[in-house]
Amino acid sequence: MELSTASDVLTVHGGTALSGEVRVRGAKNLVPKAMVAALLGHGTSVLHNVPQISDVRIVTGLLEAHGVSVTRGAPGADGEPSDTLILDPASVEQASDTAVEAHAGTSRIPVLFCGPLLHRLGRAFIPDLGGCKIGDRPIDFHLDALRAFGAVVEKRPEGLLISAPERLRGTQIRLPYPSVGATEQVLLTAVLAEGVTELSNAATEPEIVDLIAVLQKMGAIISVHNGRVIRIIGVDQLGGFTHRAIPDRLETASWACAALATGGDIRVIGAAQGEMMTFLNVFRRIGGDFEVDDTPGEPSIRFWHSGGQMRALALETDVYPGLSTDWQQPLVVALTQAHGLSIIHETVYEQRLGFTDALNRMGAQIQLYRECLGGSACRFGQRNFMHSAVISGPTKLHGAELTIPDLRAGFSYLIAALAAQGTSTVHGISLIRRGYEDFEAKLSALGADVELGLGA
Ligand code: EPZ
Repeated sequence: MELSTASDVLTVHGGTALSGEVRVRGAKNLVPKAMVAALLGHGTSVLHNVPQISDVRIVTGLLEAHGVSVTRGAPGADGEPSDTLILDPASVEQASDTAVEAHAGTSRIPVLFCGPLLHRLGRAFIPDLGGCKIGDRPIDFHLDALRAFGAVVEKRPEGLLISAPERLRGTQIRLPYPSVGATEQVLLTAVLAEGVTELSNAATEPEIVDLIAVLQKMGAIISVHNGRVIRIIGVDQLGGFTHRAIPDRLETASWACAALATGGDIRVIGAAQGEMMTFLNVFRRIGGDFEVDDTPGEPSIRFWHSGGQMRALALETDVYPGLSTDWQQPLVVALTQAHGLSIIHETVYEQRLGFTDALNRMGAQIQLYRECLGGSACRFGQRNFMHSAVISGPTKLHGAELTIPDLRAGFSYLIAALAAQGTSTVHGISLIRRGYEDFEAKLSALGADVELGLGA
C-alpha cells in the first residue's frame, strides 16, 4: 500500500453520537456543469452557493486554460471566503493540449467542455477521463450524440480530438440509458446548434433541471416533456447568467446517514426537501426521523435517530426519481446497524459494492451476489457483476485501517469509523474533498473525535 501523506490520512476515534449543525452548499453534480455553461455565453456569469471542493478547482483550472477569467466574490465581513464565482468568457482561446492534459485523470467533467468549445472554437481536446472507479463508465453515448450533431471525433493516443467542420445542427437523439452526463452533453451542445434537437430517454435529475434553468437564463429555449423527452430550439447567441445553485442532496443524505449510524442528531443548513423525497421516505422507514424547516433563505432539515430499533429494508437504486446510487453507500453503513436482513440492488453502476469488503473487516456481515436481488432485472443481471448485497444486522463495528476507493465510499468509511468502537485510520481522504466541503471541521463541530495524520 502506497504510504499516505499526513494530510491524506484521518484518524477517527469512534463511539460518539454526532450532534449539532452543518451547512451544505451547491450541488457538486451541478456547480461544475454551470461553470462549463458560462463558456457558451457572451457575457459575464455569476454563480452563487459554490462549495470549496476540488472538483470546482479542477474546472476553474480548465476554464482558465481556455482564457476564461474565474474570480471569487469578496470575502464576508467575518472573513469567510465568498461562495460566489464570477466567470468572464470574454477572451476564450484555444488551450494547449498539454494544459488540458494537466487535468487528465482527475474528473469526468472535461468531456462536457465539448459542446461549448466546438461552438466557440470549432475544436475540443478531451484527455483521458478520471472520476470514481465504480464501473467501466464509458462515454459512448456522449460521442454518439456529438457525431449526431455533425461533430467529427478522432481518437488520439493522448485523448480525443473533436472538431466541427461546420455549425452543429439540431438532431434527434435517443439515449440507450438515461445518462446524466450524456443528457448534459446534449443540452450544452444543442442550445447553440442550428435548429431543433429532441432528446428522448433523457435523465431528469434535479441537477439536470437546474442546469436547464441556468441555460434558460442565458437565453436558451429548452422544454421538458413527459416520458423523459427534452426539446431544445437552438439560438444564435447566449448571454451570461446569475444563478444560485441547488443544495447538494447527496452531501445532505450523507450527514443524515451519519446521524442515524452514530445515534446522533444533525441539522443540515441549506438542505431542501424537494429533491430528497425518495431519500426521506427511506430514512423514515429505516427508523430515522427528520424535520423540515422551510425558512426562506435559510432552509434546513434536521435528521436524528428515533431511538428505537432500526429496521432492515430492501432497496434498489435507480435514475431519478428513484433512489440515487450516490445515496447507496452511506445507507449501506447505516443498514449494518438495522435489525434483520437488508437487500441492496445497485442498478446504475456495476462495481459500486466493492467497498463492503472493508466494512466486513470492521465486523459487518455483507454478502455480495451477481443476481438482481430484491427488485426488477437490470442491465447487469446475468453478467459477471457483484451488484447486489445482503446485509445482516445489527453488527458491532470495530476500528480498522481503511483505504478510500471512491468519493461516496470514502465518506461512508468515515461514518462506519465513527459508529465503530476503537480507532480507525482512513487513508486517501483527498478523494472526499472532491465532493465534501470542509468535512474535517464539520465532523469536529459535531463532536467527532478525529485528527489529521496518523494520530498519536
Ligand atoms: C453523474 O455521473 C454523477 N457525476 C454521478 O455522481 C452519479 O452517480 C451519476 O451521474 C448517476 O446519477 C457527476 O455529475 C459529476 P451517468 P455520470 O452518465 O454522468 C452508463 C458522485 O458520487 N453510461 O448517468 O458519469 C454508465 O456507465 C458521482 O457524486 C454509458 O454506458 O453518470 C453508468 O452505468 C458518482 N455510456 C450509467 O450509464 C455513456 O456514454 C449512468 O452514468 C454514459 C453513461
